[in-house]
Amino acid sequence: MNFQDEIKRRRTFAIISHPDAGKTTLTEKLLLFGGAIHVAGAVKSNKIKKTATSDWMEIEKQRGISVATSVMGFDYNGYKINILDTPGHQDFAEDTFRTLTAVDSVIIVIDAAKGVEAQTRKLMEVCRMRNTPVIVFINKMDREGKDPFDLLDEIEAELSIHVRPLSWPIGGGQTFKGVYNIFEHKLDLYTPSKQTITESIKFDDIHHPDLEKYIGNHTAKLREDMEIIEGVYPLFDTKPYLEGHLAPVFFGSALNNFGVKELLDCFVQIAPCPLPTQAMERVIHPEEEAFSGFIFKIHANMDPNHRSCIAFVKVCSGKFERNVNYKHVRQNKMLRFSSPTAFMAQKKEVVDEAYPGDIVGLPDTGNFKIGDSLTSGEEIHFKGLPSFSPEMFKYIENADPMKAKQLNKGIDQLMDEGVAQLFIHQNNGRKIIGTVGQLQFEVIQYRLLHEYGAQSKWEPLSLYKACWIESDDKDELENFKRRKFQYMAVDKEGRDVFLADSGYILQMAQQDFKNIRFHFSSEF
Ligand code: G4P
Repeated sequence: MNFQDEIKRRRTFAIISHPDAGKTTLTEKLLLFGGAIHVAGAVKSNKIKKTATSDWMEIEKQRGISVATSVMGFDYNGYKINILDTPGHQDFAEDTFRTLTAVDSVIIVIDAAKGVEAQTRKLMEVCRMRNTPVIVFINKMDREGKDPFDLLDEIEAELSIHVRPLSWPIGGGQTFKGVYNIFEHKLDLYTPSKQTITESIKFDDIHHPDLEKYIGNHTAKLREDMEIIEGVYPLFDTKPYLEGHLAPVFFGSALNNFGVKELLDCFVQIAPCPLPTQAMERVIHPEEEAFSGFIFKIHANMDPNHRSCIAFVKVCSGKFERNVNYKHVRQNKMLRFSSPTAFMAQKKEVVDEAYPGDIVGLPDTGNFKIGDSLTSGEEIHFKGLPSFSPEMFKYIENADPMKAKQLNKGIDQLMDEGVAQLFIHQNNGRKIIGTVGQLQFEVIQYRLLHEYGAQSKWEPLSLYKACWIESDDKDELENFKRRKFQYMAVDKEGRDVFLADSGYILQMAQQDFKNIRFHFSSEF
């Protein structure tokens, strides 16, 4: 297969949802279709790692939460599919945000009974920032849920995106009969407990008298609903979908494997193949011959005895090859990888080459940071790996004076991995760790002890927000920093950060210093 065709057949995406909506179940069913796994239940171990892949971080086993973001690749109908898994727990949302920078599209899973939930909203904001194409899967149709039209309205209103149903439920909960697949013009019938679509009948015209034979007294309602759909929603068009303005919607039940294959079949047809990536210097096109990619994830310490990490690189252009020298742009040095790995379902295996859209795992001993670029030689810096303003803060202190060096090294490396954010207080030089969730503090403390032998303790710090500040007016910036000295810190890159201890203080600062820009994510 030639290079262009390899690019065209790739679909790299993430499934996102509020916890419990059914992301893991859907992922698993997709992998079953791809033949990547053979038994249901295999991916659960990814979420709650009780068995298998036991060499991932010990903490995951302990807590039963997927701290890590892994990659699952498989072939389906000639397409190469890469699913980037994201941690379900909201304390690791930052990890999910970063993963979203490495995908070309997204499937959002929504629980039919719960509708749009907090985490869905937050993740969608990130998608919107990047105009990521989104398909919605409304799950758990086998249970009593909200009215489908209400759900569509809710999605439009709460996620600020237009929707277009491509399948439509017939009944719901106890009376769920199946869906009319608008995309393929067929009726997909559901029988509880059968764990699949029991019958699929082509119906180009839903006014065909035979329809009643299959869905009985649901017929009139379906015809009525379809009339409303055709009247209210414009015909499905891939352009607004690809631009991130329109989300096609499917209904189904992941647990019962209902509507999943239809989702996948439509997905491979309409979802984008690897897209151009915006770098600081220029736009990088996947078809370019020279290799380029960026690190979006570092997965540490598969083996606590050796400081080994895997840096996940997303191939943006060209072909990545094993044992070829590539330039680590930030360090300005050439590196060669003798055992890069690809991820096929739950296995990782050494690969000789990878194409745009693929994710390659590079064994690393501390060379890489999140956001680093790797190229055939060109000076390229990728944009778009934002750090979000953390929401929780604590001072980190050394609890064992003999191990100060280990602690500093540990903190440095964990921050490079993107586990949390470090700020140095200008007033007292103390180290502040900022996170989006309490669990991250526990993970950091655990890992510092187990991986670096460093004892640490936390001291409370009550802050409302840390925001990055900048201004074209140097005098005003200096004035601000002088006046707010006790609230100033710098981040790891030495950028100025304002630590506001209340919403009021922040508001006042914004009012009083009009020439200063306050940023709530570090990508500006
Ligand atoms: P998540 O990754 O988004 O957190 O959700 P997950 O797939 O783990 O699903 C959450 C719960 O919802 C699971 O039940 C799962 O079996 C159930 N579920 C998923 N899809 C459907 C569906 O289509 N219909 C129904 N009725 N339930 C569904 P659990 O009891 O938490 O876990 P388990 O004991 O079944 O593993």
